[in-house]
Amino acid sequence: APTGLEGLDSVTLTRFVLHGQKSHAEAKGDLTMLLAAVQLACKVTETCVRRAGIANLYGLAGSGNVQGEDQKKLDIIANDTFKVNIQSSGKCCVMVSEEEDLAILCDRTYNTGKYAIAFDPLDGSSNIDANVSIGSIFAIYKIDDPAAITTPQEAAKEILQPGREMVCAGYAMYGSATNLVISMGEGVHGFTLDPSLGEFVLTDPNMRIPSRGKIYSVNEGNARMWDPATTEYIKGLKYPEDPDKKAYALRYIGSMVADIHRTLLYGGVFIYPADAKSPDGKLRLLYEAAPMAFLIHHAGGKSTTGKEDILDVMPTGIHQRVPVYMGSPEDVADFEAVHAKIN
Ligand code: AHG
Ligand code: MN
Ligand code: MN
Ligand code: MN
Repeated sequence: APTGLEGLDSVTLTRFVLHGQKSHAEAKGDLTMLLAAVQLACKVTETCVRRAGIANLYGLAGSGNVQGEDQKKLDIIANDTFKVNIQSSGKCCVMVSEEEDLAILCDRTYNTGKYAIAFDPLDGSSNIDANVSIGSIFAIYKIDDPAAITTPQEAAKEILQPGREMVCAGYAMYGSATNLVISMGEGVHGFTLDPSLGEFVLTDPNMRIPSRGKIYSVNEGNARMWDPATTEYIKGLKYPEDPDKKAYALRYIGSMVADIHRTLLYGGVFIYPADAKSPDGKLRLLYEAAPMAFLIHHAGGKSTTGKEDILDVMPTGIHQRVPVYMGSPEDVADFEAVHAKIN
Protein backbone atom coordinates (compact mmCIF):
# COMPACT_ATOMS: atom_id res chain seq x y z
CA ALA A 1 0.00 0.00 0.00
CA PRO A 2 1.31 3.47 -0.78
CA THR A 3 2.28 5.49 2.27
CA GLY A 4 1.02 8.78 0.75
CA LEU A 5 4.46 10.23 1.30
CA GLU A 6 5.97 9.10 -2.01
CA GLY A 7 8.06 11.70 -3.78
CA LEU A 8 8.99 13.58 -0.63
CA ASP A 9 12.60 13.37 0.36
CA SER A 10 13.69 13.11 3.97
CA VAL A 11 10.44 11.76 5.35
CA THR A 12 11.34 11.86 9.02
CA LEU A 13 9.77 9.56 11.58
CA THR A 14 7.98 12.52 13.18
CA ARG A 15 6.49 13.54 9.83
CA PHE A 16 5.53 9.94 9.09
CA VAL A 17 3.71 9.52 12.41
CA LEU A 18 1.93 12.87 12.06
CA HIS A 19 0.84 11.88 8.55
CA GLY A 20 -0.53 8.58 9.92
CA GLN A 21 -2.44 10.46 12.60
CA LYS A 22 -4.29 12.47 9.93
CA SER A 23 -5.90 9.31 8.52
CA HIS A 24 -7.41 8.57 11.93
CA ALA A 25 -9.94 11.33 12.52
CA GLU A 26 -10.50 10.26 16.13
CA ALA A 27 -6.78 10.51 16.97
CA LYS A 28 -5.91 13.34 19.32
CA GLY A 29 -2.16 13.13 18.84
CA ASP A 30 -1.46 11.23 22.06
CA LEU A 31 0.24 8.33 20.33
CA THR A 32 2.21 10.81 18.23
CA MET A 33 3.53 12.45 21.39
CA LEU A 34 4.30 9.14 23.06
CA LEU A 35 6.21 8.03 19.98
CA ALA A 36 8.16 11.29 19.98
CA ALA A 37 9.26 10.43 23.53
CA VAL A 38 10.21 6.87 22.56
CA GLN A 39 12.08 8.18 19.55
CA LEU A 40 14.05 10.59 21.74
CA ALA A 41 14.83 7.81 24.22
CA CYS A 42 16.26 5.76 21.34
CA LYS A 43 18.38 8.71 20.20
CA VAL A 44 19.74 9.33 23.69
CA THR A 45 20.46 5.60 24.11
CA GLU A 46 22.21 5.50 20.73
CA THR A 47 24.43 8.42 21.78
CA CYS A 48 25.39 6.57 24.98
CA VAL A 49 26.05 3.38 23.03
CA ARG A 50 28.27 5.18 20.51
CA ARG A 51 30.24 6.94 23.28
CA ALA A 52 30.38 4.00 25.67
CA GLY A 53 34.06 3.14 25.13
CA ILE A 54 35.17 6.74 25.59
CA ALA A 55 32.83 7.65 28.44
CA ASN A 56 33.58 4.53 30.50
CA LEU A 57 30.07 3.10 30.04
CA TYR A 58 31.07 -0.48 29.26
CA GLY A 59 30.89 -3.22 31.88
CA LEU A 60 28.69 -4.24 34.74
CA ALA A 61 26.65 -1.91 36.92
CA GLY A 62 27.09 -4.18 39.93
CA SER A 63 23.36 -4.86 40.29
CA GLY A 64 20.92 -7.49 39.05
CA ASN A 65 17.38 -7.51 37.68
CA VAL A 66 14.33 -9.54 38.72
CA GLN A 67 15.20 -12.24 36.17
CA GLY A 68 18.52 -12.90 37.89
CA GLU A 69 20.64 -11.26 35.17
CA ASP A 70 23.65 -9.06 35.95
CA GLN A 71 22.85 -5.56 34.76
CA LYS A 72 25.31 -3.72 32.54
CA LYS A 73 25.86 0.02 33.00
CA LEU A 74 24.12 0.61 29.67
CA ASP A 75 21.08 -1.49 30.73
CA ILE A 76 20.56 0.94 33.61
CA ILE A 77 21.25 4.10 31.60
CA ALA A 78 18.89 3.04 28.80
CA ASN A 79 16.21 2.07 31.32
CA ASP A 80 16.41 5.47 33.06
CA THR A 81 16.33 7.23 29.68
CA PHE A 82 13.20 5.37 28.56
CA LYS A 83 11.42 5.90 31.88
CA VAL A 84 12.10 9.63 32.09
CA ASN A 85 11.20 10.37 28.48
CA ILE A 86 8.03 8.28 28.40
CA GLN A 87 6.82 9.53 31.75
CA SER A 88 7.26 13.18 30.76
CA SER A 89 5.33 12.68 27.52
CA GLY A 90 2.23 12.70 29.75
CA LYS A 91 0.56 10.22 27.41
CA CYS A 92 1.37 7.00 29.19
CA CYS A 93 -0.03 5.62 32.45
CA VAL A 94 1.73 2.26 32.76
CA MET A 95 5.31 1.21 32.00
CA VAL A 96 6.80 -2.26 32.14
CA SER A 97 10.55 -2.68 31.73
CA GLU A 98 12.83 -5.69 31.67
CA GLU A 99 14.90 -3.95 34.32
CA GLU A 100 12.04 -3.21 36.75
CA ASP A 101 10.50 -5.85 39.05
CA LEU A 102 7.04 -4.28 39.06
CA ALA A 103 4.91 -2.40 36.57
CA ILE A 104 5.36 1.36 36.98
CA LEU A 105 2.38 3.61 37.45
CA CYS A 106 3.23 6.96 35.85
CA ASP A 107 3.25 10.08 38.01
CA ARG A 108 -0.25 11.58 38.30
CA THR A 109 1.15 15.12 38.33
CA TYR A 110 1.71 14.56 34.65
CA ASN A 111 -1.44 14.27 32.60
CA THR A 112 -1.57 10.47 32.53
CA GLY A 113 -2.57 9.20 29.13
CA LYS A 114 -4.44 6.13 27.97
CA TYR A 115 -1.41 4.18 26.78
CA ALA A 116 0.69 1.48 28.39
CA ILE A 117 4.16 0.55 27.18
CA ALA A 118 6.42 -2.44 27.69
CA PHE A 119 10.08 -2.06 26.77
CA ASP A 120 13.42 -3.82 26.68
CA PRO A 121 15.59 -0.71 27.05
CA LEU A 122 18.78 -2.43 25.93
CA ASP A 123 18.58 -5.74 24.10
CA GLY A 124 21.67 -7.84 23.55
CA SER A 125 23.50 -6.90 26.75
CA SER A 126 26.10 -9.64 26.29
CA ASN A 127 27.20 -7.95 23.04
CA ILE A 128 27.63 -4.42 24.43
CA ASP A 129 31.29 -4.56 25.40
CA ALA A 130 32.33 -6.09 22.05
CA ASN A 131 30.67 -3.31 20.00
CA VAL A 132 28.33 -5.82 18.37
CA SER A 133 24.83 -4.65 17.31
CA ILE A 134 22.37 -4.11 20.17
CA GLY A 135 18.99 -2.39 20.35
CA SER A 136 15.81 -1.38 22.18
CA ILE A 137 12.34 -2.95 21.80
CA PHE A 138 8.90 -1.53 22.69
CA ALA A 139 5.22 -2.49 22.59
CA ILE A 140 2.37 -0.02 23.12
CA TYR A 141 -1.15 -0.94 24.29
CA LYS A 142 -4.29 1.07 24.99
CA ILE A 143 -5.92 1.02 28.42
CA ASP A 144 -9.64 1.45 29.05
CA ASP A 145 -9.77 3.37 32.29
CA PRO A 146 -6.38 4.76 33.33
CA ALA A 147 -7.90 6.70 36.24
CA ALA A 148 -8.99 3.43 37.89
CA ILE A 149 -5.42 2.16 38.24
CA THR A 150 -3.92 2.92 41.65
CA THR A 151 -1.34 0.18 42.34
CA PRO A 152 1.51 -1.49 40.40
CA GLN A 153 -0.51 -4.73 40.57
CA GLU A 154 -3.49 -3.11 38.88
CA ALA A 155 -1.14 -1.51 36.38
CA ALA A 156 0.36 -4.90 35.53
CA LYS A 157 -3.10 -6.40 35.03
CA GLU A 158 -3.99 -3.71 32.48
CA ILE A 159 -0.99 -4.36 30.27
CA LEU A 160 -1.42 -8.15 30.28
CA GLN A 161 -3.04 -8.23 26.85
CA PRO A 162 -2.44 -10.58 23.93
CA GLY A 163 -0.05 -9.22 21.28
CA ARG A 164 -2.88 -8.89 18.78
CA GLU A 165 -4.29 -5.99 20.82
CA MET A 166 -1.07 -4.02 20.41
CA VAL A 167 -1.39 -0.52 18.99
CA CYS A 168 2.22 -0.13 17.98
CA ALA A 169 5.47 -2.08 18.14
CA GLY A 170 8.99 -1.17 17.20
CA TYR A 171 12.67 -1.55 17.78
CA ALA A 172 15.79 0.53 17.37
CA MET A 173 19.00 -1.20 16.33
CA TYR A 174 22.34 0.39 17.18
CA GLY A 175 24.41 -1.26 14.47
CA SER A 176 26.81 0.06 11.84
CA ALA A 177 23.95 2.52 11.32
CA THR A 178 21.02 3.11 13.66
CA ASN A 179 17.65 1.85 12.39
CA LEU A 180 14.19 2.26 13.82
CA VAL A 181 11.56 -0.18 12.57
CA ILE A 182 7.96 0.41 13.50
CA SER A 183 4.43 -0.79 12.84
CA MET A 184 1.12 0.68 13.89
CA GLY A 185 -0.71 -2.24 12.34
CA GLU A 186 -0.56 -0.81 8.83
CA GLY A 187 2.64 -2.16 7.34
CA VAL A 188 6.16 -2.17 8.73
CA HIS A 189 8.38 0.80 8.05
CA GLY A 190 12.12 1.19 8.48
CA PHE A 191 13.96 4.42 9.26
CA THR A 192 17.68 5.16 9.41
CA LEU A 193 19.17 7.77 11.72
CA ASP A 194 20.89 10.47 9.70
CA PRO A 195 23.63 11.50 12.13
CA SER A 196 24.08 14.88 10.47
CA LEU A 197 20.37 15.72 10.92
CA GLY A 198 19.78 13.80 14.13
CA GLU A 199 16.59 12.55 12.49
CA PHE A 200 15.26 9.11 11.59
CA VAL A 201 14.64 9.19 7.83
CA LEU A 202 12.30 6.73 6.06
CA THR A 203 14.55 4.34 4.13
CA ASP A 204 12.48 1.11 3.98
CA PRO A 205 8.74 1.77 3.53
CA ASN A 206 6.43 -1.27 3.57
CA MET A 207 8.98 -3.90 4.54
CA ARG A 208 7.97 -7.45 3.53
CA ILE A 209 9.71 -10.57 4.78
CA PRO A 210 10.65 -13.08 2.02
CA SER A 211 8.20 -16.01 1.95
CA ARG A 212 11.14 -18.39 2.46
CA GLY A 213 14.72 -17.84 3.52
CA LYS A 214 18.05 -19.65 3.50
CA ILE A 215 19.12 -18.87 7.04
CA TYR A 216 18.34 -20.33 10.47
CA SER A 217 19.23 -18.47 13.65
CA VAL A 218 19.44 -20.23 17.00
CA ASN A 219 21.90 -20.69 19.87
CA GLU A 220 23.11 -24.08 18.69
CA GLY A 221 25.22 -24.50 21.83
CA ASN A 222 21.99 -25.46 23.58
CA ALA A 223 21.24 -28.29 21.09
CA ARG A 224 21.80 -30.98 23.74
CA MET A 225 18.83 -29.60 25.71
CA TRP A 226 16.37 -29.07 22.85
CA ASP A 227 13.02 -30.82 22.56
CA PRO A 228 12.59 -33.47 19.80
CA ALA A 229 10.65 -31.18 17.40
CA THR A 230 13.32 -28.46 17.41
CA THR A 231 16.09 -31.07 17.05
CA GLU A 232 14.33 -32.76 14.12
CA TYR A 233 13.50 -29.49 12.35
CA ILE A 234 17.06 -28.11 12.58
CA LYS A 235 18.46 -31.46 11.44
CA GLY A 236 16.29 -31.16 8.32
CA LEU A 237 17.74 -27.70 7.57
CA LYS A 238 21.33 -28.91 7.93
CA TYR A 239 20.97 -32.30 6.25
CA PRO A 240 18.16 -31.89 3.67
CA GLU A 241 16.65 -35.22 2.58
CA ASP A 242 16.73 -34.11 -1.05
CA PRO A 243 20.46 -34.17 -1.97
CA ASP A 244 19.92 -31.41 -4.56
CA LYS A 245 18.68 -29.05 -1.88
CA LYS A 246 21.20 -26.70 -0.26
CA ALA A 247 21.51 -26.73 3.50
CA TYR A 248 20.51 -23.56 5.36
CA ALA A 249 23.21 -21.18 6.57
CA LEU A 250 23.52 -20.45 10.29
CA ARG A 251 23.64 -16.83 11.50
CA TYR A 252 23.33 -16.07 15.21
CA ILE A 253 24.29 -12.73 16.72
CA GLY A 254 22.81 -13.18 20.19
CA SER A 255 20.97 -9.84 20.14
CA MET A 256 17.33 -10.51 19.35
CA VAL A 257 16.99 -7.11 17.68
CA ALA A 258 19.83 -7.80 15.27
CA ASP A 259 18.78 -11.39 14.58
CA ILE A 260 15.19 -10.31 13.89
CA HIS A 261 16.27 -7.34 11.76
CA ARG A 262 18.28 -9.67 9.52
CA THR A 263 15.41 -12.19 9.43
CA LEU A 264 12.97 -9.44 8.39
CA LEU A 265 15.26 -8.37 5.53
CA TYR A 266 16.74 -11.67 4.34
CA GLY A 267 14.11 -14.16 5.49
CA GLY A 268 14.60 -17.46 7.28
CA VAL A 269 13.76 -18.45 10.82
CA PHE A 270 14.76 -17.19 14.27
CA ILE A 271 14.37 -19.62 17.16
CA TYR A 272 14.74 -19.46 20.92
CA PRO A 273 13.10 -22.71 22.01
CA ALA A 274 12.13 -24.04 25.39
CA ASP A 275 14.77 -26.47 26.54
CA ALA A 276 15.56 -28.78 29.41
CA LYS A 277 17.13 -25.89 31.37
CA SER A 278 14.52 -23.20 30.52
CA PRO A 279 11.09 -24.88 30.14
CA ASP A 280 9.52 -21.62 28.88
CA GLY A 281 12.46 -20.51 26.77
CA LYS A 282 14.47 -17.38 27.52
CA LEU A 283 12.78 -14.51 25.72
CA ARG A 284 10.19 -12.43 27.52
CA LEU A 285 6.69 -12.19 26.01
CA LEU A 286 5.77 -8.59 26.77
CA TYR A 287 8.85 -6.71 25.59
CA GLU A 288 10.67 -9.18 23.32
CA ALA A 289 8.53 -11.93 21.76
CA ALA A 290 5.19 -10.11 21.30
CA PRO A 291 6.44 -6.85 19.72
CA MET A 292 8.74 -8.78 17.36
CA ALA A 293 5.89 -11.18 16.47
CA PHE A 294 3.70 -8.12 15.72
CA LEU A 295 6.33 -6.67 13.36
CA ILE A 296 7.01 -10.02 11.67
CA HIS A 297 3.25 -10.60 11.26
CA HIS A 298 2.64 -7.19 9.68
CA ALA A 299 5.56 -7.80 7.30
CA GLY A 300 3.91 -11.02 6.08
CA GLY A 301 5.71 -13.45 8.39
CA LYS A 302 4.61 -15.90 11.05
CA SER A 303 5.36 -16.66 14.68
CA THR A 304 4.59 -19.48 17.08
CA THR A 305 5.47 -20.79 20.52
CA GLY A 306 5.11 -24.30 19.08
CA LYS A 307 1.60 -24.43 20.53
CA GLU A 308 0.02 -21.19 19.32
CA ASP A 309 0.69 -17.96 17.50
CA ILE A 310 2.74 -15.71 19.80
CA LEU A 311 0.20 -12.91 19.16
CA ASP A 312 -2.54 -15.06 20.74
CA VAL A 313 -0.74 -15.82 24.00
CA MET A 314 -2.65 -14.35 26.91
CA PRO A 315 0.06 -13.14 29.28
CA THR A 316 -0.16 -14.03 32.95
CA GLY A 317 2.91 -12.18 34.25
CA ILE A 318 4.83 -9.11 33.09
CA HIS A 319 8.17 -10.96 32.86
CA GLN A 320 6.70 -14.21 31.50
CA ARG A 321 8.86 -16.11 29.02
CA VAL A 322 7.75 -17.99 25.89
CA PRO A 323 9.42 -20.27 23.34
CA VAL A 324 9.95 -18.34 20.09
CA TYR A 325 9.89 -19.49 16.47
CA MET A 326 9.42 -16.68 13.95
CA GLY A 327 10.28 -15.56 10.46
CA SER A 328 9.40 -16.39 6.86
CA PRO A 329 5.89 -17.90 6.65
CA GLU A 330 6.97 -21.02 4.74
CA ASP A 331 9.86 -21.72 7.09
CA VAL A 332 7.67 -21.38 10.20
CA ALA A 333 5.02 -23.60 8.54
CA ASP A 334 7.73 -26.25 7.98
CA PHE A 335 8.55 -26.15 11.68
CA GLU A 336 4.86 -26.43 12.59
CA ALA A 337 4.55 -29.51 10.38
CA VAL A 338 7.48 -31.19 12.14
CA HIS A 339 6.07 -30.17 15.53
CA ALA A 340 2.62 -31.58 14.70
CA LYS A 341 4.21 -34.90 13.67
CA ILE A 342 6.47 -35.28 16.71
CA ASN A 343 4.83 -33.61 19.73
P1 AHG B 1 18.71 -8.87 27.02
O1 AHG B 1 20.08 -8.43 26.64
O2 AHG B 1 17.68 -7.80 26.83
O3 AHG B 1 18.63 -9.52 28.37
O4 AHG B 1 18.23 -9.94 25.95
C1 AHG B 1 19.09 -10.99 25.63
C2 AHG B 1 18.36 -11.98 24.82
C3 AHG B 1 18.19 -11.64 23.36
O5 AHG B 1 18.69 -10.43 22.94
C4 AHG B 1 18.91 -12.73 22.63
O6 AHG B 1 18.11 -13.18 21.57
C5 AHG B 1 19.14 -13.80 23.66
O7 AHG B 1 19.09 -13.17 24.90
C6 AHG B 1 20.46 -14.50 23.51
O8 AHG B 1 20.54 -15.49 24.45
P2 AHG B 1 21.74 -16.56 24.48
O9 AHG B 1 22.95 -15.80 24.88
O10 AHG B 1 21.28 -17.57 25.49
O11 AHG B 1 21.86 -17.15 23.10
MN1 MN C 1 18.76 -8.65 30.21
MN1 MN D 1 16.35 -8.50 25.29
MN1 MN E 1 17.55 -5.98 27.79
